[in-house]
Amino acid sequence: MMTPVERHAARARAVAEAVDRIRQIETRDGVHRDSLAAMKAVLIELAGRTELFPIEDFPPPGPEIARNNALYRLSEDADHRFALYAQRSQGGTDTPAHDHTTWAIIVGVDGDELNRLYVHEAGGVRKTGEQVVGRGTGIAFMPDDLHSIHIPPQTPVLNFHMYGLALEQLHGRRYYRPATHDWAHFPASEGIRDLPAPAARSGA
Ligand SMILES: [Fe+2]
Repeated sequence: MMTPVERHAARARAVAEAVDRIRQIETRDGVHRDSLAAMKAVLIELAGRTELFPIEDFPPPGPEIARNNALYRLSEDADHRFALYAQRSQGGTDTPAHDHTTWAIIVGVDGDELNRLYVHEAGGVRKTGEQVVGRGTGIAFMPDDLHSIHIPPQTPVLNFHMYGLALEQLHGRRYYRPATHDWAHFPASEGIRDLPAPAARSGA
């Protein structure tokens, strides 16, 4: 049984190793569906180290925060590329269809997240399918691909979200508004936290 301090250190090493491999895949192969599938496989392998990612290590936002999910930064290069986050959701999520303007990969760690997939059609979107992302599975998106995310209320979910560029740098992500049949921009994300290092004596 690892202590929280040992787990924190082992997790950092495993994350660094996985991001290294993903960086190498992109550098060598570029960005297309096959290379994203190879990157996704690396993240699925990382998620498989369940002893390093207990959901309790990623607390949901407290009641004072309006949003129902918390994003923890696990890795990000100095130039903001290759950003890996752990997203902890409490459920009750329904996003509009949106793109990312960079490549994006979601891999399940604990709990299920429903992804609906769309293509552009006649100025709007047409749903083409859906896929549940849960433990040991994932989904990858090219920069222009569209999806929406759905989690029922009161459903704890932990998953990895990785992007070619950090979420704080993404100012052009578009989402579709069915009511007005038009597109709007997401503001760049904020409120992303670093995972706090556990105290050396945590009482465990
Ligand atoms: Fe997304």
